[in-house]
Amino acid sequence: MTSTTEQLIGEYFATGTLAGLPSGHFIDGKFRPAASGQTLETFDPGTAKAFARFAAGDAEDVEAAVASSDRAFRECWRKVAPAERGRILQRTAEAIRANAERLAVVETLDNGKSLAEAQGDIRSAARLFEYYAGAADKLQGETLPLGMDYVSYTSLEPVGVTAHIIPWNYPTSTMVRGIAPALAAGCTVVVKPAEQTPLTALMLAEILRDAGLPDGVCNVLTGTGVAVGAPLVAHEKVRHVTFTGSVNTGRTVMQAAARNVASVTLELGGKSPMVMLADCDMDAALEDVLWAIYSNSGQICSAGSRLVIERSIHATFIERLAALAGKLSHGHGLRNPQIGAITSLDQLSKIAGYVDDAKVRGVRVAAGGSATVDQASGSGWFFQPTILDGVGPQDRVVQEEIFGPVLSVQVADSPEEALALANGTEFGLAAGIYTRDIKKALRLARDIDAGQIYINEYYAGGVETPFGGNKMSGFGREKGLEGLRAYCRVKSVTARI
Ligand code: NAI
Ligand code: MG
Repeated sequence: MTSTTEQLIGEYFATGTLAGLPSGHFIDGKFRPAASGQTLETFDPGTAKAFARFAAGDAEDVEAAVASSDRAFRECWRKVAPAERGRILQRTAEAIRANAERLAVVETLDNGKSLAEAQGDIRSAARLFEYYAGAADKLQGETLPLGMDYVSYTSLEPVGVTAHIIPWNYPTSTMVRGIAPALAAGCTVVVKPAEQTPLTALMLAEILRDAGLPDGVCNVLTGTGVAVGAPLVAHEKVRHVTFTGSVNTGRTVMQAAARNVASVTLELGGKSPMVMLADCDMDAALEDVLWAIYSNSGQICSAGSRLVIERSIHATFIERLAALAGKLSHGHGLRNPQIGAITSLDQLSKIAGYVDDAKVRGVRVAAGGSATVDQASGSGWFFQPTILDGVGPQDRVVQEEIFGPVLSVQVADSPEEALALANGTEFGLAAGIYTRDIKKALRLARDIDAGQIYINEYYAGGVETPFGGNKMSGFGREKGLEGLRAYCRVKSVTARI
């Protein structure tokens, strides 16, 4: 019988860990230790204490996993009928729902987010599998009109072995938005979760196997970016790399893939603006902005991390937003606060560094501004929901991704100036637009250079909505039917008759 959330929480607070957590790599349908025998610790950000160990892989493990995925691709998965691939993915969606309580608790422990947020991530993982399960048998080609003497058609073929490098902010949902379309298209996958959050990827690999996925089709390797990620993305048998993370690591990954002329999807974060025009519905917008920046403690690639607001509503809006931000509860994720922890001490230091630097330069802190701890235990890595008000367009906190609960506010004197400020960074992932005037909204949607635009509701959209960046935020799209493209190659066949 599976344990309930309450039982798991009780077990964790009594023992400081959970029984039965996965600890090895998952290769060829089985858990196995790293070839070197080395392990690393993963931390619970809510207590700042280690609670589990995992395999610290290296190039030898990468070799084993890629060989397994290559064999599984050639000998097995590409030959499985598309409808059967779809059935396995559908069973996986159901198995994720059946195991949702344990997956969410483990995700909360590894990442630090609130239990409610982790439960949402697990639901979205199940939904992604369900969506792409339905696509597996609809990847069809076309016939091409070359005249009476030819028969010409295209087919969509799987690219082969694909590598998936996963960040620590959304371990489950980021992994699944890459592997579900890859598996639907007939590719095999080698997944490298982040070293801060390795556990749910291993649990998912086991769930996939139990749902009927043949051995080797989904392998998971744990370890650091340098020891495992780098040799994986540089492996000559890897034909596509899906990467989500920082711009610098994204560049390194692209260079490594270039050696083998492998394709890449890069999702590299952003500094996404929310453009607040004077005629917005302020009550609704306040609540929306609050969650656009403070969900997941602001550790979201597409977080609404800049507010670009018209001067006439600026003072009132910020006063009311600061009051709301100051009331948000924080604490250990398993106690289900409104705001969870920051996933690593490195990330907490990075956030504090940006805010301290802004304070030194005289930026007005309208809310928050400091690191804090879980009140119940006096420990853990937390940062107060923070507002930096009236920041200049070239300021670091406007130009650089902080990846924390820090909102930078820029004031505009017209919708035209708001547009210029919105486009005034090197990023182009997402943007929010708040106005009651549909013409103004659609003109801004046309002119803002970003992969997704949200009008009057930040993060609006679903599994069906393609997601990805412009400019330095990367390229390629995940989710929706667009998300299948990276994993298919068009082949044309033409016969003279
Ligand atoms: P990172 O980009 O270095 O890590 C992301 C993933 O890449 C991890 O799995 C890591 O092990 C792997 N990796 C690292 N070096 C690699 C290499 N040479 N080859 C292949 N894989 C490699 O990000 P990090 O250092 O954890 O966070 C730094 C900053 O990146 C954050 O403060 C945030 O601004 C940004 N970030 C953005 C994310 C997004 O969703 N776009 C997610 C995570 C971080
Ligand atoms: Mg952890």
